[in-house]
Amino acid sequence: MKTVEINTATCSSRVICGEGAFNENIPALCRDKLTFTVTDSNVYRIYRPLFDDIFAKSGAVHVIPAGEKSKNYSVLLGILKAMLSSGLKRNSTVFAVGGGVVGDIAGLAASLYMRGVHLVQVPTTLLSQVDSSVGGKTAIDLCGIKNIVGTFYQPETVIADPMFLSTLPAREVRCGLGEIIKTGALNKDIYNKLQQNKEKLEDADFLKDIIYDCIAHKADVVIKDERESGLRKTLNLGHTTGHAFELYYKRKSHGEFVLIGMYYELYIAVRCGICAPEYADSLINLIKRIIKIPAYADAEKACLMAAYDKKNVRAEEISLMVPAKIGQPEELRLPVPKYASIIAECAAQLKENRL
Ligand code: GLY
Repeated sequence: MKTVEINTATCSSRVICGEGAFNENIPALCRDKLTFTVTDSNVYRIYRPLFDDIFAKSGAVHVIPAGEKSKNYSVLLGILKAMLSSGLKRNSTVFAVGGGVVGDIAGLAASLYMRGVHLVQVPTTLLSQVDSSVGGKTAIDLCGIKNIVGTFYQPETVIADPMFLSTLPAREVRCGLGEIIKTGALNKDIYNKLQQNKEKLEDADFLKDIIYDCIAHKADVVIKDERESGLRKTLNLGHTTGHAFELYYKRKSHGEFVLIGMYYELYIAVRCGICAPEYADSLINLIKRIIKIPAYADAEKACLMAAYDKKNVRAEEISLMVPAKIGQPEELRLPVPKYASIIAECAAQLKENRL
């Protein structure tokens, strides 16, 4: 078990990760407090005894429907009303037990209720353990735009215990690998570890090890740039195009779209001379081990959804974080028509099996 500290000018947060993190810490975090636990219907079904024996003994357990669709204001309002009726006070603690959706919406509710109550994140998916539970971003979607309403609100504690991964469907593991490969495109040591272990990316022992590395990388970035004015933007690698496709096509999950977005953005980076083809190929090789990249027929139209991305500050340009050299991402700004035409070119090449 290891602990990563995230101390910034405004907060102090710790991430405890590794086997035993849940059992050794959660009972003490619930003791002598009024708690309010948010989870989703899938996690509740699988881990019902944990909720009955631990969380329900110190307060209410609120179950939201599983899935991305729950990241909306009516589910948020339901959580806030349930907090109020359970008698939650300012010194109470909210536990977010689930994947990225639960973490984002419960975190947002915790930041709003009484202007902020204590928050503990208990991520149960690979994606939420390596990325979304760490760093204090909370959000819901609005009018079809992802994460457009949210706050920066650091959890006091994150408990990332790999015991939860044993019940994850293979598809969920692949989603988490999307964020892990993204981190590999930002950090040389993680890149090398991925290359050395590319035959066993989905092995439980490899994942347990790399979870800590990804958390440590993210913690380092958040300490330096909590509010995303510079360095933290690197964590959005693959996400601009990934979110655009996610908004347009919807069918796949967030982690899968991150992988697809990364693939298309690597094509752009090579095409614009920022990334050497050999380095891009080594990342593409990892991506293709996890997912088949779709040759979207209407990619040119779909990618225009990127203009609605909140990371985009100029209407006429699309800002992308792309891998330049190993461990060195770079920001690339492209006029919208150029971005769309390169995306279309990539889709056409995929269609003709030329990639
Ligand atoms: N998921 C990217 C970030 O937390 O900044």
